Amino acid sequence: MRGTRKYQHVIETPDPGKWELAGYEESLPISEKSNPMTRELDKADPSQLVQLLRDCDAEIFQEEDENLIHYHRLYSESVLKTMGDVAKRVQEVLKNPDDSLVVLSGCGTSGRLALLLANSFNGLLKGLHKTPCYCYIMSGGDRSIVTSQESSEDNPQLGAQELEKVCEGKKNVLFIGISCGLSAPFIAGQLDFCMRHLDVYLPVLVGFNPVSMARNERIEGWHSSFRQVAERLQTLHDSQKGFILNPAVGPEGVSGSSRMKGGSATKILLETLLLVAHKAESNVPVTEKCLLEILRTYERAHKVTYSQSKKIAALMKQTATSLQKKGHLYILGWGTLGLVGIMDAVECVPTYQADWRDVRGFITGGYHSIENKEGDLSSLGPEFSISHEDFVKNVLPSVSETDTVLLIFTLDDDLNQIEKLVALVKEKTSNIQVICHATAGQYLPNSLKKTIPSIIGLTWPILFLEYEGAFIQKFQRELSTKWILDTVTSGAYTLRGKIFRNFMVDFKINNSKLFHRATSVLQRLTGQSQQRCTEVLLQSIYGEQTLSEQIRNTTIAGHVEAAASQDKVLPVAIVSLLRSCTIQDSRSRINSSLSIRSAIESSMNVPGRKRGAEDSESR
Ligand code: F6P
Repeated sequence: MRGTRKYQHVIETPDPGKWELAGYEESLPISEKSNPMTRELDKADPSQLVQLLRDCDAEIFQEEDENLIHYHRLYSESVLKTMGDVAKRVQEVLKNPDDSLVVLSGCGTSGRLALLLANSFNGLLKGLHKTPCYCYIMSGGDRSIVTSQESSEDNPQLGAQELEKVCEGKKNVLFIGISCGLSAPFIAGQLDFCMRHLDVYLPVLVGFNPVSMARNERIEGWHSSFRQVAERLQTLHDSQKGFILNPAVGPEGVSGSSRMKGGSATKILLETLLLVAHKAESNVPVTEKCLLEILRTYERAHKVTYSQSKKIAALMKQTATSLQKKGHLYILGWGTLGLVGIMDAVECVPTYQADWRDVRGFITGGYHSIENKEGDLSSLGPEFSISHEDFVKNVLPSVSETDTVLLIFTLDDDLNQIEKLVALVKEKTSNIQVICHATAGQYLPNSLKKTIPSIIGLTWPILFLEYEGAFIQKFQRELSTKWILDTVTSGAYTLRGKIFRNFMVDFKINNSKLFHRATSVLQRLTGQSQQRCTEVLLQSIYGEQTLSEQIRNTTIAGHVEAAASQDKVLPVAIVSLLRSCTIQDSRSRINSSLSIRSAIESSMNVPGRKRGAEDSESR
């Protein structure tokens, strides 16, 4: 059943999904539901994986369907109206840059995007010889930009302190807190702080669940849940003292992996809103039409990106092969495309329990290009080495045929330098691939073309736009690169057996959200009660069959700390529950299995096993 479409779309957006129906995985927020489209993700080949993730990404642009549950979508009138209202408030900041600030804040990918966006719009202002007035906050500080530091997102007090610190002396602050799942305590603390100081702060929450689905357990050591904070914020909407921008974009292709659609939708929504605010500053009024014009360019980016599906699938296959042979994927990007590469690489660590060396990102100019507040962090250890020079000096000597090296650049970058790097890499591995962005009329020089066996070439139309509008091409290229990398790494880890159906089943439990996600995945795969699932999860974390009173009385923060030193916590719990076997038995089964997925699959088929909730729903 196709809903009533109000707008003409550049891409074919899918029909409303089953996830929109009342009662579908009712207890879960949209961001944690399993997407009905990708139920058999783990059985897909590379081409099918690209197609499935492409269709999931297209859901971002799907309009609301009046026949189904009423979720607001990106193109809903109410969402466009709020985007316009916030854009007008950004303009006020831009008029008084000396005592005003736009602060973007987030955790994990959301924080890295806060940095990327703040830098883009400061760059835009600098180009107009205006005072930069954007700044970012990243939970865990700058070290979280290039490494995975998930635990800091659990601290609301720290969030508030950081916000107060960066806003010292400012009279007018527009705060944008990004939490795709409406879940991060760090962001809740900041929103709460803003609401206590409404004379200075205008809080805006960005995420992709309705407020009624915001995370509801009380934040440990604090007075509220995220939902209570969001509900308070909602009451400020009519008086325009606070805003929530939370269109539904559908469940992630890999359940809960908010770096994917959530991250992309964050980028689309905020860049559109901010670009319109800047255009409007040059006396173009903020209208729905302006917003729509920009949103369409992102739809176009989806179409251009996935026109290369075959080559994306080949890159995914190559990456999976490298990972299988204990090789690596090295992503070397130029300019902000390098940061997009780092962003993707870092998220493989918490999502797939990858070693930080497995997928690594490098950027031309290192920290200088990232423009982070704390400057060069490379002295903190090898994990923090992110420049191309670091790659050539420290990594390249050990690169071999088992590794894949991916270069990402535009034809405006230094092609001589790129050619030299390609030559160096080719001495070590023939598995070299390229994502190359061109503007119509630009061509890759033959000399470079001849040396690279596989090129994902993306050609973008020339945009005859005023200065602000010219940023659209940069945004399109970044998003396109993000889509490709999300698809390649998620797909490669799926092929490596790290996904069961469309659930991540081997992630690091290093914050409270991930602890709850682990329990929820356990429940959904085994059909056992929450209490039983929590018990077995704890057995797996502590490696003990009998849980002591002390363990039972430990806080979730304590369990998370204990889980940090363990691997395969969730898979061990899943197999133990499915087979009713001890933690030790389960661990040895998993260790002798071909993959996590195959260990779970074979445990699902054990005779006499009670069928789980997911079995009856999906099969
Ligand atoms: O906790 C890890 C993580 O899920 C990351 O993968 C994600 O980017 C980050 O949290 C932030 O999530 P959210 O935007 O939903 O707060």
